[in-house]
Amino acid sequence: MCGIVGIIGQAPVSERLLEALKRLEYRGYDSAGIATVGGDGALTRRRAEGKLGNLSARLEAEPLAGNIGIGHTRWATHGGPTETNAHPHMTSRVAVVQNGIIENFKALREELAADGYEPQSETDTEVVPLLVTRELARGATPQKAVETVLAKLNGAFALALIFSGEQSLMIAACRGAPIAVGHGDTETYLGSDAMALAPFTNRVTFLEDGDWAVLEGSKISLFDRANQPVKRAVITTQASGLLADKGNHRHFMLKEIHEQPETVGHTLAHYVDLASETVRLRETLPIDFADMPRLTISACGTAYYAGLVAKYWFERYARLPVDVDVASEFRYREPPMEKGGMALFISQSGETADTLAALRYCAGAGQHIASLLNVTESTIGRESDVVFPTLCGAEIGVASTKAFTSQLTALAALAVAAGKARGTISAGEEAELVRALAGLPGLMHDALRAEKQTEDIARQMARASDVLYLGRGQMFPLALEGALKLKEISYIHAEGYAAGELKHGPIALIEEDLPVIVVAPSDDLMEKTLSNMQEVAARGGSIVLITDEEGANQAGDSAAEVITVPTVHNMLAPIVCALPVQLLAYHTAVHMGTDVDQPRNLAKSVTVE
Ligand code: M6R
Repeated sequence: MCGIVGIIGQAPVSERLLEALKRLEYRGYDSAGIATVGGDGALTRRRAEGKLGNLSARLEAEPLAGNIGIGHTRWATHGGPTETNAHPHMTSRVAVVQNGIIENFKALREELAADGYEPQSETDTEVVPLLVTRELARGATPQKAVETVLAKLNGAFALALIFSGEQSLMIAACRGAPIAVGHGDTETYLGSDAMALAPFTNRVTFLEDGDWAVLEGSKISLFDRANQPVKRAVITTQASGLLADKGNHRHFMLKEIHEQPETVGHTLAHYVDLASETVRLRETLPIDFADMPRLTISACGTAYYAGLVAKYWFERYARLPVDVDVASEFRYREPPMEKGGMALFISQSGETADTLAALRYCAGAGQHIASLLNVTESTIGRESDVVFPTLCGAEIGVASTKAFTSQLTALAALAVAAGKARGTISAGEEAELVRALAGLPGLMHDALRAEKQTEDIARQMARASDVLYLGRGQMFPLALEGALKLKEISYIHAEGYAAGELKHGPIALIEEDLPVIVVAPSDDLMEKTLSNMQEVAARGGSIVLITDEEGANQAGDSAAEVITVPTVHNMLAPIVCALPVQLLAYHTAVHMGTDVDQPRNLAKSVTVE
């Protein structure tokens, strides 16, 4: 998704803006640009299609002077990823970068055209500099011009603006998309997230929805939606100033897959007390699990699949009824909600627009709001009554891996806590589950030994045009996750199905050599899944079975390939089985030669609906 940076500096800013943009690359983008106000007061910009390397080359050929500037990585929504559509958009008076969507841009364009203001690009954003320029031409000050224009804009967006002739003035606005002000000693910064600001400062103010900020040198004035002066807290962010690096790994995704024994260990340390073999929640729930009539979970993509696995856990181990929805469907369904229930939002970024919208719907419907987040200093975090952290460190690869297993780890601990509170899990069972959780990092480490085998299988999968994933019970969401992972990074069409659904339609897709990935550790459902495998094998499908040792023995020779993972407590099998599922997708994508960390069309943090 688009990224915004800004610096009001004491020295030239264009190189530092470029560095800050690099820290936002993980969000996904397809063009980039920078604008500065030079010593002569004139606005100048450089923009380029594609990766930041192209912008860097452009800046090297034609450097940008100026101690104040804004930068942008663009993830195309309105208009293709061309240089003309790249931000900043500007007139001779003002330059603007935007993250989000100006929904009423068509009407505004018509209004501007009537006054002789014509856009150069196909973007929604360009109405903003044109509207501000019209206000300036009418005699407004920059601050008044922005105030007037903000009142005309509909949508969810964040903005940053600089003005010709103004060497130390920057204005920012937050309307449903995040933006943070960074406080330096003598400089002031703007960024879409704290990560972008981390090399400059760890003192940050997140604007709240509707806020806008006038930054004049290091003087910062904040206003709310009603243009009333407001104060917002300055927090010390934990975001690391080090630019994340791939270490010895070829891609961030591979590094993040390999980090999982450690990241899951880190997550566990927060939720369980190994000495007493108990789950220990440091956060106070807004409503006790014992009194909770229902838990409503909303999330998107991989986080949604983590929620689906958790539904099996909460229902089975805590006898707590759970609804799970993709956030983009949830609020438009307008579900009736009994007041006093708890709604849980799962998100790596904490900025996903659909998940945030679902949260606001639930808050409006009188629910207690809990979230499970990796970026706890995010908009979703700030709007939650309680935030459970996943603590897996910055996830840079667009394909979510370590966030998924940390989400599952935290959810497993929450399900045990719920079971304990509701009297469905005894102290002995809790101790057994905590011991099993404590064993996860070691078992995950062992599961990664299957990497060479997955690489070989992936060579075959890379020749396929379709792949099916099957799973039953709590492994069904993992089948969905496997298919998503493969689709997003290898661009091979893949579908995940509940194994029992196979004969209700998908079996028609089975043909000679179609790869079918079956995720089925030995459990009380294995027998049934084995029957489904027979149905696939009888029709020529080429089965890759992901199972444990006992499952491998049970399966005999019905699978073309068996990836054996370590035996783990049945509840935690989705966490261990996630590793070969991720590795299969990763190595298939590598064989295909795709851009694994920044796959086409995708954004890490999806801040538009
Ligand atoms: O930041 P979030 O966890 O809210 O993101 C949700 C989805 O956009 C995300 O999981 C997406 O599906 C990933 N690309 C999956 O790998």
